[in-house]
Amino acid sequence: MNAKNTDFGTFAQDVMLGLNSTPKTLPSKYFYDAKGDKLFQQIMALPEYYLTRKEYEILEGQHEQILAPILEQDQPFNLVELGAGDGMKTKILLRYLTQKRVEFTYYPVDFSGSVLEGLEDSLAKELPELAVNPIQDTYRDSLKKQIWEDGRPNLILFLGANLGNFGVEEAKNIIDHLRVGTKRGDLVLLGFDLKKNPQTILDAYHDEQGVTREFNMNLLDRINRELNADFDRDSFVHWPTYNPVSGECRSYLVSQKSQIVTIGALNQKFEFEAYESIFTEISKKYSLSEISQLASLGGFHVEENFTDSEGYFADVLWKKH
Ligand code: AVJ
Repeated sequence: MNAKNTDFGTFAQDVMLGLNSTPKTLPSKYFYDAKGDKLFQQIMALPEYYLTRKEYEILEGQHEQILAPILEQDQPFNLVELGAGDGMKTKILLRYLTQKRVEFTYYPVDFSGSVLEGLEDSLAKELPELAVNPIQDTYRDSLKKQIWEDGRPNLILFLGANLGNFGVEEAKNIIDHLRVGTKRGDLVLLGFDLKKNPQTILDAYHDEQGVTREFNMNLLDRINRELNADFDRDSFVHWPTYNPVSGECRSYLVSQKSQIVTIGALNQKFEFEAYESIFTEISKKYSLSEISQLASLGGFHVEENFTDSEGYFADVLWKKH
């Protein structure tokens, strides 16, 4: 596996760029080290965090219809998954395809090496006959390299509302990478968290047990550990917000006092004014019409939108013209 993106250099560089920006920001992809992966597992089990359960319901109840268009092509294909995570939801699809004795190769792509190892182990046990080819990379770089491309049809999964972690322009850019990284007839299944009661959304990022707070704070711990810094995490407050117009749920860490943080590996001190914030994550919520606009941007046509019984979440299936 290629470890390029876990390089000390890239993390240090991104932290330096982000903390020297106004307003200060840190990229959410660095949430996911071994500790962050565990915290995210806990988040998915929280009563407030409906996203995972809703998407599970969609895949559990509608996987036959979801997979029908790729199966109709009636030839071996590649199942590529961007941001595979623990594969909990994908295993619904993998089990079904394996039972049907369909010929396909599974390419899980993830930024986290520890997640990919865990996934490989669990698949070797649960589905030993499955052909798995893990790729440790970012979404964009993996779509540029397309190491799965062998002329077979591709079904690309981009589940879990992972696209929501990008701002509007960046999301369009990822869709453009999908456009370039697919060929006519390829299918894409994307998971989107839908706009809904703002309180329901806010609660999902502000859970009572404080796991999401820990998840955000882990970014500071990680900088302390890996970059020899002295963030005092207790002086920061976890502050999620939701804007119902833009659909943007944004999380911040707010410094409760004026302070100076030293990051040894960067050889730099960072000044925080009292109540200055670090923007750590965006989780954008979409309407179905916004999603359809994204599809046309990427040169895809909408095959079908699959939603759960409450209309909280959508897995949308697109086909390349
Ligand atoms: C993994 C990106 C879908 O944005 O809802 C959960 C990450 N952040 N709680 C999301 C997350 C805070 C999650 N995604």
